Amino acid sequence: MRQQTVAVIGAGSSGLSMLKTLRDDGFKVTCYERRSQVGGLWAYTDDETMTTALPSTSANISKYTCGMSDFPIPDKYPHYLSQAEFQEYIESYATHFDMHKDIVFNALVKQASRNQDDSKWRLDLVVDGESRVEEYDKVAFCHGYQTKAKMPDFEGVKNFDGKILHTQQFRMSDEFKGKKVVVVGVSSTASDVLTLLLPVASKVYMSHRRGALIVPKFRKGFPPDLMSNWRRRQIFSFLQRTFPRVSRWLVDKLVALMMKQMYGDLDPAWGLGTPASLSLSPRALNENIIPSLRDGSLTSLPGIKRFVGPSSIEFADGTVLDDIDAVICATGYLADFSMATFLETSRPSNYGGPDMARLWMNLFPPRYADSMVMLCHSALGKNNGFSFSDVTSMAVSNVWRGVYPMWTVKEMGRHIDSHQDWVASRWRLDNNIDTSMVKTWEYQSFLHEAAGTGMENLGWGWKGWKFWFQDPKMSYMMNHGVETAHAFRYFETGKRKAWPGAKEAIIHMNELVKMFPIKDEKEK
Ligand SMILES: Cc1cc2nc3c(=O)[nH]c(=O)nc-3n(C[C@H](O)[C@H](O)[C@H](O)COP(=O)(O)OP(=O)(O)OC[C@H]3O[C@@H](n4cnc5c(N)ncnc54)[C@H](O)[C@@H]3O)c2cc1C
Ligand SMILES: NC(=O)c1ccc[n+]([C@@H]2O[C@H](COP(=O)([O-])OP(=O)(O)OC[C@H]3O[C@@H](n4cnc5c(N)ncnc54)[C@H](OP(=O)(O)O)[C@@H]3O)[C@@H](O)[C@H]2O)c1
Repeated sequence: MRQQTVAVIGAGSSGLSMLKTLRDDGFKVTCYERRSQVGGLWAYTDDETMTTALPSTSANISKYTCGMSDFPIPDKYPHYLSQAEFQEYIESYATHFDMHKDIVFNALVKQASRNQDDSKWRLDLVVDGESRVEEYDKVAFCHGYQTKAKMPDFEGVKNFDGKILHTQQFRMSDEFKGKKVVVVGVSSTASDVLTLLLPVASKVYMSHRRGALIVPKFRKGFPPDLMSNWRRRQIFSFLQRTFPRVSRWLVDKLVALMMKQMYGDLDPAWGLGTPASLSLSPRALNENIIPSLRDGSLTSLPGIKRFVGPSSIEFADGTVLDDIDAVICATGYLADFSMATFLETSRPSNYGGPDMARLWMNLFPPRYADSMVMLCHSALGKNNGFSFSDVTSMAVSNVWRGVYPMWTVKEMGRHIDSHQDWVASRWRLDNNIDTSMVKTWEYQSFLHEAAGTGMENLGWGWKGWKFWFQDPKMSYMMNHGVETAHAFRYFETGKRKAWPGAKEAIIHMNELVKMFPIKDEKEK
């Protein structure tokens, strides 16, 4: 049989994982990357049309729970990798698995469409400034979840003479030296930008509609992601699936309690104490912002109502500021479907949000599920960050290789309709949700099953008991220990390649975290 050709768009962690997995499974893969290096948004760039982690950004997931399934994060790195360290790690991943030879750099994909006889995908590209057309059997879009800036549509914005930009365009803070700046949004990106602005701007305001959870890098001395483990994830998934209201209430109560325990009574003037439900709109402000609110160098304001003059802005509570030089919108990102004009959208009834993409499992367009996948939607459905890229790429490969039976177009369509009804029901609870949300329990279960990770060996079923009898120590460690991606390559299932180094790497990660006082915390 002729070897199937695949184009992978993007050489970030998702694209590299996809390139490697598909190549290992027998596809002929070419990856196109518009940057001149691998790393995705972790490869810092001055190009303001691209999203970039800033040199001051560090990962919000500790090194113990992120990292690729068969390429452990080296011990030399700190608990949280910085932008440069993450870039170095991804670069070494690509080098170790000899991926550069299959990547075309400085290659911007403009459009994917069916070729004339509808037998292949036609890619319109610009490589090193030259237009080019290539054809492939299959295409995997891995061009990023934070590629298209989400810019608010403010009333009266034309009245404003100052600078308005999205954080995608924000680089070094020098141009804001001595300026009065409003940052819109409270979340991870806002925290990064505020941290850089505060020492140089003459005054910084943080404008937000409803607050955020305050996230510490260390909770009682250890990274908070170490509190999660496979067993707890399963219990929480069960609660979310079976008792959605109770689980939502429980999560929000726990979060409120945790914030109170850690930060005491927050000044009500900051408006931070009433964030949106975490299970609907997760927003996370870094705790390093709190001292600036306390010492008054940062002022919290409600959302912007309208722009009223060349330097005047009115806020939702009636406050008017008359001397603002710049507004930076840290308002998040949307999936970029501009290259995929073939994509259909729809909207359920009794729903007033944006149109929703018709993607089965937020990944496959039903009509072309055997040849097209789009990993740019549903960023929040993954667990432990980057490392979930491997589960996704193994699942995609198995769907395309026929290892996981493909659903019919009709079945996928019905599933999309019912999924969109579910999203609409969330939207009615919170009009500002990200409509690319997934039922994490369904999304992750599907990907694990399709990928053939064998994680059912850690469950309560007979396979779980069998594994426990065979190797109680490993069973305990994988259920209750660090949530490392190496677990996804541990079991021999015949559906994807197990990694011979998985056992040793899992044990090593669990040894490393013994330096933290987690055990005492769990025993309390
Ligand atoms: C500032 C920031 C910090 C983050 N920190 C974390 C974190 O700590 N933990 C976590 O789990 N997640 C984090 N995220 C989420 C982020 O999605 C992941 O870190 C990760 O980058 C996703 O990898 P990716 O390969 O899917 O996308 P990207 O890293 O965005 O890579 C996509 C690649 O596709 C390329 N590309 C895009 N369009 C085209 C095109 N048309 N043609 C050719 N190439 C194209 C881009 O140049 C890029 O190199 C962060 C996001 C941001 C914005
Ligand atoms: N490693 C890191 O530290 C790091 C750094 C940056 C980003 N990231 C990741 O990147 C992803 C994106 O994060 P993000 O911080 O850029 O975006 P985000 O989490 O989507 O937060 C967007 C913020 O903008 C607000 N907002 C959105 N639309 C608005 C509008 N029209 N008007 C006013 N406010 C609006 C939201 O408020 P509402 O709640 O009111 O909607 C929210 O406060 C996340 O997954 C995050 O974890 C990580």
